Amino acid sequence: MLSTRGLSRSEMVSLFERAKALENLAQAPQSLKDKTMVMLFEEPSTRTFVSFHKAMQNLGGKVIAIPMSSIAKGESMQDTIHTLECFADVIVLRLRQPIGSIASKVPVINAGDGSNEHPTQALTDIYTIWKRFGNRTPIFVTLFGDLRYSRVAHSLKPLLRIMGYVVSFAPGTPELNDESETCLSSIPHSDVVYVTRSQVERWPVGLKVVPYVLPKCSPSALILHPLPRGTELTEIPDSVWEQVRNGVFIRMAVLEQCLFKRTTSKL
Ligand code: NCD
Repeated sequence: MLSTRGLSRSEMVSLFERAKALENLAQAPQSLKDKTMVMLFEEPSTRTFVSFHKAMQNLGGKVIAIPMSSIAKGESMQDTIHTLECFADVIVLRLRQPIGSIASKVPVINAGDGSNEHPTQALTDIYTIWKRFGNRTPIFVTLFGDLRYSRVAHSLKPLLRIMGYVVSFAPGTPELNDESETCLSSIPHSDVVYVTRSQVERWPVGLKVVPYVLPKCSPSALILHPLPRGTELTEIPDSVWEQVRNGVFIRMAVLEQCLFKRTTSKL
């Protein structure tokens, strides 16, 4: 799973139903008992790393996590993948640069590649929305923050629309505004407000996201944030901690689908 492109609504809902079933089980099935997941993370990670690790462990699988690789010596991504597939049934990658096209004999999951995409975080986020609102329509979602460099926002935007949600954008500062659909008036009516930090490591000069959106939200709005937070969120609501916990169940469902092709060939 390198990208969210090509995922359909029914495929997402099927994944969410599996994640929910796994969440409700007292004891997870040991369905990945004989499988090994190799994780290569070139960029820092707290939630994505731990939740992939825990997801694999919950399903009885083994984890090999490497903090750096010979990419640092100039080895190509393709040679790196061919090496890892000698040891792995599934590979999870977090890269500094967009992953591009690679060939692999085993499934490769993109855990964030530069400012390009972060598919499993986007699925976690939509799972959190789906759990709250079910199949209700319409659902109004406003994305707020660094809409230029956030890889989560890049993965999330098309999926929200495929789910049938009404999507608006509220940039964190004028510099972040490269969306044609900017709409500040949508904020008070939003069912979901999705906040992202400024990707300070990707901007040539540091940019702060101004925390002007939250005071404008409805008290019943579901506030989401992939974390870590910067200046855009003055406190972390409980909904964001639920979003963090949901990441494990989504990644369990994704790992099962990748390794068993349970319902779709795209994952
Ligand atoms: C995000 C990431 O790494 O892209 N966090 C995450 O994976 N939960 C968000 C970010 O770094 O801003």
